[in-house]
Parts: sequence; C-alpha cells; structure tokens
Amino acid sequence: MAAFPPPSRPRVLITRRIFPDLQARLAEHFELLDNPDDTLWSAAELRARLAGCVGLMCTAGERVDAALLDAHPQLRVVSNIAVGLNNIDLHACAARGVLVTHTPDVLNETTADLGFALLLAAARKLSEAERYLRRGEWTKWAIDQFAGADVHGSTLGILGMGRIGQAVARRGALGFGMKVVYHNRSRLPVETEQALGARWVTKDGLLAEADHLVLVLPYTPASHHIIGAAELAAMKPGATLVNIARGGIVDDAALARALEAGTIGAAGLDVYENEPALHPALLSAPNLVLTPHIGSGSLATRRAMVGLAVDNLVAALDCGPDAGRPPAPAPKPAPV
Ligand code: DGY
Repeated sequence: MAAFPPPSRPRVLITRRIFPDLQARLAEHFELLDNPDDTLWSAAELRARLAGCVGLMCTAGERVDAALLDAHPQLRVVSNIAVGLNNIDLHACAARGVLVTHTPDVLNETTADLGFALLLAAARKLSEAERYLRRGEWTKWAIDQFAGADVHGSTLGILGMGRIGQAVARRGALGFGMKVVYHNRSRLPVETEQALGARWVTKDGLLAEADHLVLVLPYTPASHHIIGAAELAAMKPGATLVNIARGGIVDDAALARALEAGTIGAAGLDVYENEPALHPALLSAPNLVLTPHIGSGSLATRRAMVGLAVDNLVAALDCGPDAGRPPAPAPKPAPV
C-alpha cells in the first residue's frame, strides 16, 4: 500500500455521496476523500481508499470489520450514517480503541411512518390493486375485489420495542384504535406501557395474537431469522408481517413460501437479506409490498442523519492533537 505523508488536517473518508452543504461543514475541519459518483465500493476498494484516514463516515452498506481495522491502525473514529450498527464489528472496534458513533432518534418518526405505510399498503393490497389498474384490467367493480384486512381496531404486534417500536405503537393505538402487544428482551417500565397502551407478551404470544406484526429489532446473531417458517406458521392465517428493521431478521425464502401458500395474509418489506439483491422468490410472491430500504428516507430526516454524523465526527476528531482517541471507548449498542 502506498505510503502517505502525514496530512496537515485529519484525513477523513466519506464512503457515499452526501448533501453538499453538509460535506462543506466537514471540509472546514478535515482533508476529505469522497465519492462524488456514489459508487458502491467493494471491501478491497474501501480498504485501499482508507489509507491515511483517521476518520471514516460510512453507511449501513459498508462493512467495518477486524480485517479493515487491522489494515488501518491509524483509524480513530467511525461515524455511521445509520442508527443500526450491524455493519460494524463493535467488539473489534472497542479492542482497537476505535470510537463508533451512530444516528439514533432523528429517524424514529420517519421510520415509523414508513412502517405504517407498509402495514396499510400490504393489509389493503395497494400494490396489487395499483398494478392491476395500470395493466388496464379493471373492467368492473366487484364485492370482494382486493378485499384486504382491516387495520383500525385490530391487534398490532411489535417485535423490538425501542424508540422506533414505540413510535409505531403510538400510531397504532392513538391513530387507528389498535390493541398493542409487544415483545422485547426487556420489558418497558409500567408507566411507558400505560402511556402507549401496550402489553408485553412472550414471542409465542405475540405471534398468536397479532393481526399485524411489525419488526423493529436490531440485527444480531440472536435475531438472525427470528422470523422463519415456524414463526410464520404460528401467525394468524390472515396476518400481515412488516419488516422495517434489517434484512436477515426474516428468512426471505420462507416468507415467499408462506405468502404463496397463504400461511399469512400479506407482508411489507423495506429491508432484505442480501440487499440490494432480492431473493428472486420475493419478486413473484403474492400480497407483498416492497420498498428499497427507505425507512428513514424523508429528505428532512436524511439531512438530520447526515448532520448528526458530521457533528459526531467533528466532535470526535476536531479537539486537539490526540483527538478521537477516547480514554475508554464505549461503543453504543443499537437500540432494542
Ligand atoms: C438506519 O439508520 O439504520 C437505517 O436503516 C438506514 O440504514
């Protein structure tokens, strides 16, 4: 690898295109290496481009693992433009004193909005109905045409009751008069449960009770395929499943089979096991609404996420000669 002379200002790599005005804020503090074409870099390319950088601003699409860290012992801070941290090996970072930051809270309401949009669209068959119209097939009204499941007054199940899960619960309880049940490793304080009108149940209880189940938990080895064939079979026959969390939480192949077989009623997915590639069976599965990982994708929220990631990097790296070298690195776990 080429030897770099020490930069006059800390050198930072941004892996993806960001908003120009927010990039300009970074440029006030750092020597920037960027990616104006927004190309998806391979792991090898990321490793090569990180040469001489003490800061890395990345997205959930880039993997920061022990091999990358070992190739770049000068790296001090990783600023992830995402709340989820499953793309980053936190233990490897902690072991090497690399500080990791993320962008919680600013995306809670926007992501909950998308969760509800998918829930409504899937339960009421919006995508199928629109495709039917666009194909020019609508010749008459029929009593059971695209008859879906009601959302209002039904039971909303939430797996993973962190900040986004609670925002989903509020929409269901206050906006749609839904009964809310949830499962989470740790139960919420009673006052929070009461304020949300939410009741803790076991995972089995959640699968059995929910008319519509929304997944909002972090992706970890423990949550890999937490919804697979057995769980889908345990859901109500007409139930809706929505995943706004991470690919890999749902076994996509099992979900496609369950939709084909009518094991559950409908599903809405924003995230996928090998995104941006989709399991081919999902493309032909019935009663399935698909979006390309846009949960946090309102313009205002994406700007807020990038702004926070910029602030995090500046705070971590712009405060003295030993900037970014935290005395006791404490990686923040993704919210549950
Ligand atoms: C997040 O913040 O984790 C969103 O899913 C974007 O990656």
